[in-house]
Amino acid sequence: MHLSLLALVFVRVVTAVRTFTVYNGCPFTVWPAIYTNLAAGTAVPQYQTGWQADAYTTVNFSVPDAWTSGRIWGRRDCTFPAGNTSASTCLDGGCTGGLLCDVNTGTGMPPATLAEFSLGGTTGTDFYDVSLVDGYNLPIRITPTSGCAVAECPWDLGPLCPTTLAGPFDSTGYPVGCKSACIAGVDGNPSKSPNCCSGSFNTPQTCPSSGVAFYWFFKGYCPNAYAYPFDESSGTALWTCPSNNLADYTITFCPAPDGAEPSVSPPSTSTSFAFESTTSWMSTPSSMNIMSTTTGTTQPAPGSDTLPNSSVCI
Ligand SMILES: *[C@@H]1O[C@H](CO)[C@@H](O)[C@H](O)[C@H]1NC(C)=O
Ligand SMILES: *[C@@H]1O[C@H](CO)[C@@H](O)[C@H](O)[C@H]1NC(C)=O
Ligand SMILES: *[C@@H]1O[C@H](CO)[C@@H](O)[C@H](O)[C@H]1NC(C)=O
Repeated sequence: MHLSLLALVFVRVVTAVRTFTVYNGCPFTVWPAIYTNLAAGTAVPQYQTGWQADAYTTVNFSVPDAWTSGRIWGRRDCTFPAGNTSASTCLDGGCTGGLLCDVNTGTGMPPATLAEFSLGGTTGTDFYDVSLVDGYNLPIRITPTSGCAVAECPWDLGPLCPTTLAGPFDSTGYPVGCKSACIAGVDGNPSKSPNCCSGSFNTPQTCPSSGVAFYWFFKGYCPNAYAYPFDESSGTALWTCPSNNLADYTITFCPAPDGAEPSVSPPSTSTSFAFESTTSWMSTPSSMNIMSTTTGTTQPAPGSDTLPNSSVCI
């Protein structure tokens, strides 16, 4: 009896896995991608690092519950020409490697909405979030089982995006992305920038959200998402779930919004936004026309990914 109890505990600890379900609710194909920061942990999802997801299709796979510093996102308007492993074969979100993202360097090219995870197999707490720190390219919702909170950015921010940040655009001229102020390089100095929380602005104290251009555009529409690197202080960016709930997670691209689009205006900043509501939905990309990427869209180096840098999360 004691032995079998031990065996049970042993099995639970060593082999606990979660089921992740990735559903493409968009009326067009996206190419989901998975990246794990292997410097933070070696557990990886039991699935390929990239695939084609046609409209309204689902895949599911097992993920070890020690998965740490991982992300799932969607790539838009991709072609994968033979022999070309460049991230630029997708209009945004592309990774080096081709259809399968390179396990070491395939972090994804901004702008891209990220679903980020550090499961608590070893720490006792799952951390997860939807991040707009690298900008936006698709609406995403993370739905845990077991009653833990939904994290999401359910709106198509492309057509709502301030002109300065909008793009890339598909062949019809539709904005399939919205860059963060950092990625767009609006202050011209990404290595010492209050928008990027870099240089002397690299702490929560020296990089308040009030210093981040367009923060309220992203946070206003998507209050449950990360809108800048130190957004933990908002209390609605980084989400947790007790790991012994053994939550499964569904990641949905283009979720059906479960409420009205926010009608928000930013606190008194000099920048005015067009917070008009939109009835248009994303056009179905037909684009084979790969836009050249602009300054600031360089791929982050592995290990310097933008998973929220709270010490608990990494
Ligand atoms: C996973 O996918 C299979 C087949 O696609 C389906 O039968 C099964 O119910 C799914 N499991 C979960 C937990 O979603
Ligand atoms: C790969 O494709 C991209 C996007 O079309 C293009 O810019 C680049 O030149 C290609 N690279 C090679 C090596 O063919
Ligand atoms: C993020 O965490 C890494 C590793 O702990 C650390 O070296 C780096 O300085 C942190 N970056 C910021 C912006 O706090």
